[in-house]
Amino acid sequence: MAKPMLQVALDTKDTATALNIARQVVDVVDVLEAGTFLIYEDGLNSVRALRAIGPDKIVLADCKTADAGGAVAAECKAAGADWMTCINAATVPTMASAQKEIEVQIELYEGWDNEERAKEWLAAGIDQVVYHQSRDAKFAGQTWGEKDLASVKKLIDMGFKVSVTGGMKAEVLKLFAGVPVYAFIAGRAIHGADDPHAAALEFKNEIDRIWD
Ligand code: 5RP
Repeated sequence: MAKPMLQVALDTKDTATALNIARQVVDVVDVLEAGTFLIYEDGLNSVRALRAIGPDKIVLADCKTADAGGAVAAECKAAGADWMTCINAATVPTMASAQKEIEVQIELYEGWDNEERAKEWLAAGIDQVVYHQSRDAKFAGQTWGEKDLASVKKLIDMGFKVSVTGGMKAEVLKLFAGVPVYAFIAGRAIHGADDPHAAALEFKNEIDRIWD
């Protein structure tokens, strides 16, 4: 079984902070993500900067695109991103036009559990989804559990590469033991840690332990 990748979500207030963290964890993670907050603050310059830090890493622009997929994707690609995100509420033509330019990850928030729609994503050549517990749902008390596991397995069985995120902590990973999760995405647990390198290693070691 392929080992899940580790993605760091850099939802920092500015690019300098993101770069400081990225430099500390680039040897541990597989994917450097310019987080949505960071893109709001500094635009795609943050993606350019992350590309320079990790020339051999996957760089994701988490722009959560809802429309004009092809135009946004062309900008993300020109900035050096390998992947970008579309929100699940976007139309299939929006996602498909983005996918023509760059690899799209569909971020699943609300109302995504519709098999017919998911088949349309696959038919459009999009096979990456992000199973997401939203930050606000987590603030309201949502935790990781069997329901999430069942949803992730169902998406994998449909043929998706499924990444998992939302307030992720290293101790949550064992819930997914035996499941070929594509990537675990951690933001605050890494960029908010006193020692981001140690925090990233904790995730990596847990992945190595569980997906031996
Ligand atoms: C928010 C996001 C975050 O990047 C993702 O949830 C990871 O961040 P954290 O681990 O801090 O929740 O996409 O919409």
